Amino acid sequence: MEQNLWDQAAAQYDEEIFDTFAHDRNNVLRKTLESVVGAEDTFCDFGCGVGRTVPFIAEIAKEVVAVDYSAASLAIAEKNNFHRNNVQILQQDLAELNPPFCCADVGLLMQVLIMPDPRTREGILNTVSRNLRSGGHLVTVVPSLEVALLTYHRLGQWYRRDGSSFAEAAREMRCSADQDIVSIAEGVVKISDTPTKHFLGEEVLMTFCDAGFEALQLEKIEYSWKEDFEEPPAWMQDPYPWDWLLVARKAA
Ligand SMILES: C[S@@+](CC[C@H](N)C(=O)[O-])C[C@H]1O[C@@H](n2cnc3c(N)ncnc32)[C@H](O)[C@@H]1O
Repeated sequence: MEQNLWDQAAAQYDEEIFDTFAHDRNNVLRKTLESVVGAEDTFCDFGCGVGRTVPFIAEIAKEVVAVDYSAASLAIAEKNNFHRNNVQILQQDLAELNPPFCCADVGLLMQVLIMPDPRTREGILNTVSRNLRSGGHLVTVVPSLEVALLTYHRLGQWYRRDGSSFAEAAREMRCSADQDIVSIAEGVVKISDTPTKHFLGEEVLMTFCDAGFEALQLEKIEYSWKEDFEEPPAWMQDPYPWDWLLVARKAA
C-alpha cells in the first residue's frame, strides 16, 4: 500500500488493520519484547502506524522513537501518547536513504515488510539496520506463506467434513487460491484484496542473514481461525494460523 492509502486507512485503523498484539493467542510478542527490552534502552518502532505498541513499550524502555511515513497515522499515535515524555513521534519514509535518526538498542518491525516490491523491502531493512546500534536486537513480524497455503487445505477439509466430494472440495480450494494468489514464487498473496508479501520460515532467516543480522529465535505468533474464516467450525483448532516472529541481532 502507498503512503496516501495508509493515510486513508488511519481513520478506520482498528477495523481495517489487523492488531497483532491483541490477537496473539499465547502472548508471544509481549513475552519476547519483555525479554529483549531493558529499562535503559532506546526502542524504535519502525512503521509504528497509529502506535498500538507504543504505550506498552513506553512503560518498559527508557525512550521510544515511533516512526512511520503516514502523517494521519502519526497524528493518532501523537494524540494517544501526548502525556508521555519518553515518546518521540517521527515522520520518515523508511524506504528512502536518509541520515540516521536514532541509534536504537532494540527495534520493532511489525507487519511492515509486506509490500510486494523487493527493492522497497530492502530499502526499509537497510534503514532499520542504519538506525540500530551494532549488537542491537530487532524483533520482526511478517505474514507466513505456509499459512496462506494451509488456509486452502483447511477450506478443503471443511468442505469434505460437510459432505462434499474430493472434486468439489478441490474446486473450492482452487477457486479461493485463484482469487488470492498473485505470485506463489514471490510469496505475494492478497489480504483484503491487497497484494501482500508472505514469507516462508526459511526465507525469513535468509532475508535477515543477507541484511547483516544474526537470527536468534524464529517463532510463531498464533491466532484464531476466526481471523481467516467467518464462523469457523468448532473442530477447526490446532494447528492455528500464525505469523513469523524473528528476533535477530545486528552483526557488529
Ligand atoms: C500493517 S501496518 C503495521 C503498523 C504497526 N507496525 C502494527 O503492527 O500495528 C504497516 C505500517 O507500515 C508503514 N509503512 C509502510 N511503508 C513505509 C515506509 N516506506 N516508511 C515508513 N512507514 C511505512 C505504514 O504507513 C503502516 O503504518
